[in-house]
Amino acid sequence: MATSFLLLLHVFVLSSLPFSSSSSSATLSSLSKGSSLSVENPTHVLISPNNLFSSGFYPLGENAYGFAIWFTKPSSHGNHTLVWLANRNQPINGRLSRLSLLKNGNLILTDADQSILWATNTASLSSVQLLLLDNGNLILRTSDNVLLWQSFDSPTNTLLPQQPLTRHTQLVSSRSRTNYSSGLYKLFFDDDNVLRLVFDGPETSSIYWPDPWLSAENDGRSRYNDTRIAEFDLLGHFLSSDKLEFRAADYGAGPQRRLVLDFDGNLRLYSLKEETGDWVVSWQAKSKACRIHGACGLNGMCRYSAGFGRECSCLPGFRIRYPTDWSRGCEPEFNLSCNQSEENFTFLKVPNADSYGYDIQILLNYTLRRCMKTCLDSCDCKGFRHRFNQSSGVYDCNPKWVLRNGHWSPSLAEDLFVKVPQTPLNKDFLNKLDCSGTANMVQQLDRVYERRHENGLLTFLVWFAAAVGCFEVITICLVWCFLNRNGTHPDMGGGYIPVATGFKRFTYNELKEAARGFRDEVGRGGGGVVYKGELPDCRVAAIKRLREANQGEAEFLAEVSTIGRLNHMNLIEIWGYCAEGKHKLLVYEYMANGSLSDNLNSKTLDWDTRFQIAVGTAKGLAYLHEECLEWVLHCDIKPQNILLDSNYQPKVADFGLSKLLNRSGGGSSSSGGNDSSFSKIRGTRGYMAPEWIFNLPITSKVDVYSYGVVMLEMVTGKSPTSAGEMEQRRLIQWVREKVSTGAAMESRIEEIVDPVISGKYDVPKMQILVAVALKCVEEDKDARPSMTQVLEMLQYHESN
Ligand SMILES: *[C@@H]1O[C@H](CO)[C@@H](O)[C@H](O)[C@H]1NC(C)=O
Ligand SMILES: *[C@@H]1O[C@H](CO)[C@@H](O)[C@H](O)[C@H]1NC(C)=O
Ligand SMILES: *[C@@H]1O[C@H](CO)[C@@H](O)[C@H](O)[C@H]1NC(C)=O
Ligand SMILES: *[C@@H]1O[C@H](CO)[C@@H](O)[C@H](O)[C@H]1NC(C)=O
Ligand SMILES: *[C@@H]1O[C@H](CO)[C@@H](O)[C@H](O)[C@H]1NC(C)=O
Ligand SMILES: *[C@@H]1O[C@H](CO)[C@@H](O)[C@H](O)[C@H]1NC(C)=O
Ligand SMILES: *[C@@H]1O[C@H](CO)[C@@H](O)[C@H](O)[C@H]1NC(C)=O
Ligand SMILES: *[C@@H]1O[C@H](CO)[C@@H](O)[C@H](O)[C@H]1NC(C)=O
Repeated sequence: MATSFLLLLHVFVLSSLPFSSSSSSATLSSLSKGSSLSVENPTHVLISPNNLFSSGFYPLGENAYGFAIWFTKPSSHGNHTLVWLANRNQPINGRLSRLSLLKNGNLILTDADQSILWATNTASLSSVQLLLLDNGNLILRTSDNVLLWQSFDSPTNTLLPQQPLTRHTQLVSSRSRTNYSSGLYKLFFDDDNVLRLVFDGPETSSIYWPDPWLSAENDGRSRYNDTRIAEFDLLGHFLSSDKLEFRAADYGAGPQRRLVLDFDGNLRLYSLKEETGDWVVSWQAKSKACRIHGACGLNGMCRYSAGFGRECSCLPGFRIRYPTDWSRGCEPEFNLSCNQSEENFTFLKVPNADSYGYDIQILLNYTLRRCMKTCLDSCDCKGFRHRFNQSSGVYDCNPKWVLRNGHWSPSLAEDLFVKVPQTPLNKDFLNKLDCSGTANMVQQLDRVYERRHENGLLTFLVWFAAAVGCFEVITICLVWCFLNRNGTHPDMGGGYIPVATGFKRFTYNELKEAARGFRDEVGRGGGGVVYKGELPDCRVAAIKRLREANQGEAEFLAEVSTIGRLNHMNLIEIWGYCAEGKHKLLVYEYMANGSLSDNLNSKTLDWDTRFQIAVGTAKGLAYLHEECLEWVLHCDIKPQNILLDSNYQPKVADFGLSKLLNRSGGGSSSSGGNDSSFSKIRGTRGYMAPEWIFNLPITSKVDVYSYGVVMLEMVTGKSPTSAGEMEQRRLIQWVREKVSTGAAMESRIEEIVDPVISGKYDVPKMQILVAVALKCVEEDKDARPSMTQVLEMLQYHESN
């Protein structure tokens, strides 16, 4: 009680400080017939009775205004968050423009020259009022309570709680972060009653959500309810008549929320963090930015880059058409004329890439040579995708009319081949993809995801100390201590239920029974002990009991749901969790062949399996680092954490735990950057990067280092941890010296390889693997490749 009083007090003090908008002056509560709002008068703003929303003229650019509704309280950047805009495509002049409620009941927006840019086209003889309601709805209603018009019926790019999206309405994204004009993405109910996202570009339209290759039913949607209505409630629960349903990650009463179709084509639910004033994403439709169509236009390639979001580049042999607008794509730097002879063409290979749609044919069981021939023979073919079909065990070929929706990702097991003339071109596509040359054209979105609260609160505290006196600081400290003691935010309470993550919450008793009283221990690590168990549905699971972590349940669940969303064939799958008081458990798929460590010790792995493990592990880590919703560092790569499935495919385990466990460390003192929450040394002796020891900034390169050590161990069979034999540094130095001195490479390699595979390996591949591993264990983190580059090196050479 006392704390909420103090919080209220602070909110009150804050809101009376100068930066917090114009709300204090003589603003209006309604507009009646015959009166108008002027763009020149800053007090001509309608405020909702609860002071949450404001409506008036909002500056969209230089001397360009829009009639808008926004959240009264500015965000931490000092800008306001718009929720509605009357004239998004026709801004009005900053002088003489007005919004007038005419005597006949029509509401009109006039520009400086008196031209009408927007109107409600309403009419009424009785008296009429324009009001802004507490829910952000701007309404025009008569004195006898007849609703003539409401802004909720014509959304722009935002839905507010309890604002329905119907068969008559749609959301249209903005053109860019700063340009509020109608953009290229739409959310709407399609003719088959399914709620969809579509890219509606200058040359093409294509639906990208739900996934176009799934039928709606397979995505949990229903076509049979023709009501066509969708809305979300004040708790953050969204429900659509096509059965789409989700909850905000911070489900529950409390935070302000808004559902926005962002300019990058993703549909996101945002929640307001009161303490920082930031909007954080609490749900989003697409977790892979490059799967959103239209991102990079014709002949463009999209790739996701950690920290930058989406990056576009052109296919080899192409150049950007409009350097400021990637949606217009790339044009060829050559002239392709169909009647040239076949020898005048060649193909450039783009590994791990796809270009969605526009297949001329789907040709099953086609070799690369046959696929090339088919594409050469067809004038329409601009290139093709060649992909290994897991189910048939042969390659399939998809020649394409055009190359759109290009997408590059280390996790894609397919290659794209682009048809180009024989003439010399810059064929060094891997360099081209590096994107550094296009850095100034990066499309990106500043996203703020749920993070720990402490840092924001600290900044808040510091700021506050300057603004108010000692007394205030003391009271705030009390609040902070209280929050910290509880380890959770007060209004999260017990109402926090993670959903939409596809995994299950177990009770402690269920898991205790499944693990037969936690008797069958199969592993033991930094995070806790792992037991084998059998779930009620007969699946065999690995159940991990986390070491006592005194973090709050809400935070634990938030982190677990993040881990649960990571989904890659080289990451261990998480099936569920349990959080009951001090019992925190995670339930994973069980790996029949144990860990890499077990297998190296028992000397069972042949060379092909080892190389497959090297590539698979790199794929899993590349995905962790660069492809998922949040940037996740593993921080504890070692052979014990690389598990092998029945086909000896590696799966990285224990990711995300570094974050979970760090919570008990009593908060972090460092600040800034992605890595602010890493204050304590983590990892395992033998595999730790020098940054930990020298207290340098922790980046994804610590995982690269550990990966390098594991690769050296896999090649040499010598463990960097077994005391006496080989320590980490000595192992690295030993390999480096052996490989860089003396005789021919082959004989030098032979001296270091594990005797078990001696003479039974592919020499060029082995040379690559050793060279890559040595690069990974460079002392200087900037000299190490990224995990994606590691993968490129291993795979590039694998296929050549
Ligand atoms: C805030 O608005 C100003 C002008 O309206 C703009 O220049 C600035 O980039 C905005 N800041 C953010 C963080 O969006
Ligand atoms: C905003 O985007 C629209 C549509 O592409 C364009 O016509 C307009 O010029 C842009 N406005 C600014 C200020 O860039
Ligand atoms: C159709 O959807 C609406 C809104 O979700 C719901 O109220 C109605 O019961 C549904 N109708 C059927 C037949 O399921
Ligand atoms: C392609 O052809 C056009 C006209 O036929 C010519 O102007 C242009 O220079 C050619 N481009 C190249 C790269 O050969
Ligand atoms: C190829 O087509 C162009 C026009 O499309 C024509 O001018 C040219 O003569 C043709 N060349 C041959 C070898 O058929
Ligand atoms: C096509 O190749 C032939 C022989 O290689 C060459 O003589 C001819 O000039 C080439 N045509 C074009 C348009 O490059
Ligand atoms: C693929 O094609 C080859 C030769 O055409 C044939 O021998 C083989 O059986 C085919 N494989 C499958 C899985 O269809
Ligand atoms: C894989 O091959 C099977 C049979 O050859 C075919 O039915 C299936 O469509 C192929 N899968 C893909 C994803 O192309």
